[in-house]
Amino acid sequence: MNINRHFSLRPYNTFGIDARADFFASFHTMEELEEAISEYGRLSAAGHQNDILILGGGSNILFTRDYPGIVLKNDISGITVVREDDQHIYLKVGAGENWHGFVRYCIDRGFAGVENLSLIPGKAGASPMQNIGAYGVEIKDVFHELEAFHIKEKAVVRFSAEDCQFGYRESVFKHTYKGVFVILQVIYRLHKMPVFNTSYGAIEEELERMKVTELSLAAVSQAVINIRRSKLPDPEQIGNAGSFFKNPTVSAEKYAVLSTLFPGIPGYPSGEGVKLAAGWMIEQCGWKGYRSGDAGCHGRQALVLVNYGNASGKEINQLSEQIVESVQEKFEVMLEKEVNII
Ligand code: FAD
Ligand code: EPU
Repeated sequence: MNINRHFSLRPYNTFGIDARADFFASFHTMEELEEAISEYGRLSAAGHQNDILILGGGSNILFTRDYPGIVLKNDISGITVVREDDQHIYLKVGAGENWHGFVRYCIDRGFAGVENLSLIPGKAGASPMQNIGAYGVEIKDVFHELEAFHIKEKAVVRFSAEDCQFGYRESVFKHTYKGVFVILQVIYRLHKMPVFNTSYGAIEEELERMKVTELSLAAVSQAVINIRRSKLPDPEQIGNAGSFFKNPTVSAEKYAVLSTLFPGIPGYPSGEGVKLAAGWMIEQCGWKGYRSGDAGCHGRQALVLVNYGNASGKEINQLSEQIVESVQEKFEVMLEKEVNII
């Protein structure tokens, strides 16, 4: 087991923050994970803090400091069919598989359900963490089960969809079980016959622009990719972690008041309340395109904070606090961070 010391995490987080981990290792199997944890236990007995951070693609994380423990990068690979019936196919996916690679795998074989989630960065293992979502679909819609390793008890536990307590950008792993489990494998249930979902956002408009006359998984995927590319910065070019904040939900009464004060404020019915567009509010506060040093608010999507090169995680986090304050002041709405702050 190769454990690195004082290891730069810059290539391993899409914000491109140059934080260092006291210890760093990659694992490809559960056995390697156990080995890394026990080896770290021996090394940290000398007085290091007993912190373990599991890393996927680092696309939803902001390092605001060096990490005083071990960062373990999940590289468990493999996609296997575990069950099949007339309508569905169940695929078990290693947590270290690239998410978009898995989406392409499904599209190539005619398995439907994840095409609207094309081009989301990161790994399959992180997909249940915040119940990833885009263009009208969330992971909970195709999730069947996952296997996770309990770090302290050294035991594998299975979680059903109900156990995961999925919500909008939420799961039990972000709260009750934060830092308790390592997700090893996820089983998704895909449809053999596509049920297309093109009603969200600009998908239909884009399909029309693409001159698609017959819907296919590949066409829907390409439409989603085109829309995403037109709005979201590519982390290969500009450091970012996608939406920095969640879209907040307010009561219908509060939305009525906001609509009077701010005519045209976007709002979408959501459960009992109305979901607001955080990007719109941030833009109204004048932050869109703002830059201070190398930390900024993206010019095409105000919900995305960016690192133009050498911003520190602290600087980006400070900018996010200023944004929260000004949205609170103008709209009396509190924004919640979506990105995991370390
Ligand atoms: P990481 O950033 O590595 O980890 C995220 C969190 O999960 C951390 O707390 C980490 O400790 C934990 N974790 C990761 N893997 C495991 C594991 N195996 N076991 C236990 N804990 C684990 N998200 C959306 O939902 N929808 C979008 O449309 C979307 N668009 C994006 C666009 C861009 C340009 C970017 C950069 C990000 C976007 N995201 C989006 C956010 C991000 O891609 C997702 O949250 C993704 O699932 C994160 O995966 P990751 O492997 O990079 O996770
Ligand atoms: N808007 C503005 N100004 C901006 C940004 C957005 O006015 O700078 C307005 C848009 O005009 C639109 C509304 O806000 O009326 C919503 O914008 P958009 O469709 O771009 O989506 P979003 O709400 O900003 C969410 C997700 C994305 C996901 C897309 C598509 C959250 C926090 N974000 O963004 O997820 O890809 O919808 O489904 O829910 C992520 O989680 O990292 C992420 C990128």
